[in-house]
Formats: sequence, structure tokens, C-alpha cells
Amino acid sequence: MSESYPGEMDGIEVTACTACPELCESRSRIVNGTGPTDADLVFVGEGPGAQEDEQGEPFVGRSGGVLDEALRDRGVARGDVRITNCVRCRPPENRDPKRGELANCKGHLAVELRETDPDLVVTLGKVPSEHLLERSVAVTKEAGDVHDARVGEEQYRVLVCVHPAATLYDRSQESTLAETLDEAVALAGFDDSADGQSRLGDY
Ligand code: URA
Repeated sequence: MSESYPGEMDGIEVTACTACPELCESRSRIVNGTGPTDADLVFVGEGPGAQEDEQGEPFVGRSGGVLDEALRDRGVARGDVRITNCVRCRPPENRDPKRGELANCKGHLAVELRETDPDLVVTLGKVPSEHLLERSVAVTKEAGDVHDARVGEEQYRVLVCVHPAATLYDRSQESTLAETLDEAVALAGFDDSADGQSRLGDY
């Protein structure tokens, strides 16, 4: 089954897209997901921030540091998971992506998830949780809950998680993030003996 999407894709990479006029203005580049294309575990964030826009990779700023460290603490290397976003272009002044922008980019995410076919999708924060579950979500309250959600033609197991950045301004979120990632690692079947070194090398 093929999903429809604006712009052009090469496999799971968006190579060109002008669907969102404001994002075309604000972005320096399209920020595609990174990580194995057959990852068991996929993290979905909101959209690129300044660092991500500059480097062309999701979660490379401060919240990426929090995510990397939390994964490492559980014996999982960044290179063992796939990391992507609801929208692939940086919104102006780091505002939330608008409804239409999320909708425009959903087909890209559907292709990425369909091709990756993960055991588990983890939504990092309110925007991706609401986008995939298609309802309002009280993330702190619902963190750790697992739901089935349809993206494109396929159904996925989705685990709600707080955004890593939340721990930077609210220390009480650290344990919520930690417990949810414990659950993610277990549900995705990561071996407890993993050592935090990528098993897949650089890609
Ligand atoms: N926050 C997100 O939601 N995504 C990123 O890529 C970086 C920060």
C-alpha cells in the first residue's frame, strides 16, 4: 500500500518539499530521521530546533543530549534506534508546528514507519503524542501508557513519553522519563546485556 505525501522522497528521506510556506521560509534544510531503517524502536519528536536545523539531524541539541544519555543508561546506543520528528522543517521561533503542517508531513512519517516497521513507537512530548493518537493527551499523566495507533495504512504500538527537554526545566520529570524509557527498552526487546555501543556501526 502506498501513502500519499507532498514533495519528493527517496526511500524514507524527504528530498524536496514546499508544502508549508512558513516552514520553507524558516528552515535551512529538511531534517530527516536518523538510525537503522529496520530499527525495533522509533522515537518521534515534534520538529527540528535550531541545532537540528543547522546540523540536519534530529535531537542533536540539549534535549538530544538528555535522550542520548537516558538511552546509554539503559545500554542502548543512539545508533541502535531510529529518531525522527512529526515535521521535518524547523518552525519559526521554535513555535509548535501548526495543524496543517503536521498534516502535510504525516505522509512522510507514514512511509518512514511503514518501511522501518518497528516493534514500538515512542512519542516524545505532547505534539507527537496528540498527532499519532489523534486526541488531546495529558503527557505527564499518560506517560508510560501504550496504545495502538494507525499511521497511514499501518497500525503501531505507541508508548507515550514526556519530551526529554521537560526534564531540563522540571526535575520531577526525570523519573517519568526514566520509567517510560525502561518500559520502551523492554517492550522493544532490547537485551539487558547491551553495552551502549552501537551494534550497527555508523551509518
Ligand atoms: N525537539 C524535538 O522535538 N525534535 C528535535 O529534533 C529536537 C528537539
